[in-house]
Amino acid sequence: MKENLSVNLKNASGFISYEEVIALAQQSARHLDTLNSGTGPGSDFLGWLSLPDDILQQLDRIEKTARHIRSVSDTTVVIGIGGSYLGSRAVIEALSHSFSPLLKSKHHDVIFAGQNICEDYLSDLLEILDGRDYSIVVISKSGTTTEPAIALRILKDHLEKKVGKAVASDRIIAITDAKKGSLRTLAETNSYETFVIPDNIGGRYSVLTPVGLLPIAISGFDIRALIKGAIAMKEITRNNKNASSNPSLLYAAARNLLLKHGKSIEIMVGFTPKLHYMSEWWKQLFGESEGKDGKGIFPASVDMTTDLHSLGQYIQDGQRILFETMISVENPGKKLIIPGEKDNSDQLNYIAGKRLSEVNHNAQTGTILAHNDGNVPIITINILSLDEYHIGQMIYFFEIACAISGYILDVNPFDQPGVEAYKKNMFALLNKPGYEEASKEIKERLK
Ligand code: PA5
Repeated sequence: MKENLSVNLKNASGFISYEEVIALAQQSARHLDTLNSGTGPGSDFLGWLSLPDDILQQLDRIEKTARHIRSVSDTTVVIGIGGSYLGSRAVIEALSHSFSPLLKSKHHDVIFAGQNICEDYLSDLLEILDGRDYSIVVISKSGTTTEPAIALRILKDHLEKKVGKAVASDRIIAITDAKKGSLRTLAETNSYETFVIPDNIGGRYSVLTPVGLLPIAISGFDIRALIKGAIAMKEITRNNKNASSNPSLLYAAARNLLLKHGKSIEIMVGFTPKLHYMSEWWKQLFGESEGKDGKGIFPASVDMTTDLHSLGQYIQDGQRILFETMISVENPGKKLIIPGEKDNSDQLNYIAGKRLSEVNHNAQTGTILAHNDGNVPIITINILSLDEYHIGQMIYFFEIACAISGYILDVNPFDQPGVEAYKKNMFALLNKPGYEEASKEIKERLK
């Protein structure tokens, strides 16, 4: 297995030929020029392209702040939603012990809030935080998003009552716009340490800024290795117009060809629960970037083998509008051998002595063959292991593939006009000042 992420189209070849993919990928290489010259739609939001290099100068400060937070608290609550939440959660969950909150050994817990407005969720969280010595990292690019703003108001009040205003101010870090938004004002009023989200980087492309890196560093993971992986993938993709050696071009072309063949739903498949939030991050990246103007592939996800016992039925046998993108991780982080048993009452001795990963690998191969037989094409993304370096590669790989794919679809991959619709209605229903007219209209509509 190669050190770098690779894309394998063998299990899609019954549906799209390699030659077709190469032809579209080669034709789409011009979108790299459009990105690099900043001449396409959404060109105000291309800061992420050079981010892995640009962020290097901030790593010392991010690490210093992470050390400080770890030294003064045992838990950090990261407040944010969408692009200000999913990237850090994806990386942290992929790298963490599967049961980290239950670990007895001393470690720093990172938990999340502000990604919903559920009363029970925040009440339960407050109960936990009563017994914790905690810090808060609040992230909002606009500084005005309702969900994180509510969570911050509640948690700030809780923390200030618990440790006093001065100590709370030392334990709240804000990551937001350089100048505007109510979070910026609040941070300045309360003298919180702040990090800036650059204007030219949209939320879903911001994981390699302090938005993702600070929570990841607070969790104890190596952000330098993550960035190193992203830089390596940048070298492979950003200026590489040779389709066959540019995995982002191949992936973008393959999924668009499958769409042309009527496969309008793409399911991200992982065979480890550690990838669950990576899929969530990917769904936001592609869903918000492509789903507009009546276009786009609907991004969904499953965790295998868990979901083979639920959605597996639909994938095998339901409407034939699906394709899968499978993340295949070569090396597990740990080793576990299935023990033998003298009386073999569970009839598992045929796999005794094997590693669990061998069984999982065979489940994966069996699934690929079964789904191919059920007319489901599969794109495979191979990575060596779930570590910081390879996750960094994967992040940059998907970001550039998403931008190219958006341009193939002829949409602006960097805006998200559709997310405003629910906000306007919610503000009108809650009588937010400035929404008086909308308020009257919506109440009329609900009569
Ligand atoms: O990708 C995006 O732009 C969105 O998902 C935002 O990240 C999300 O709405 C949160 O916005 P903000 O960071 O301004 O609070």
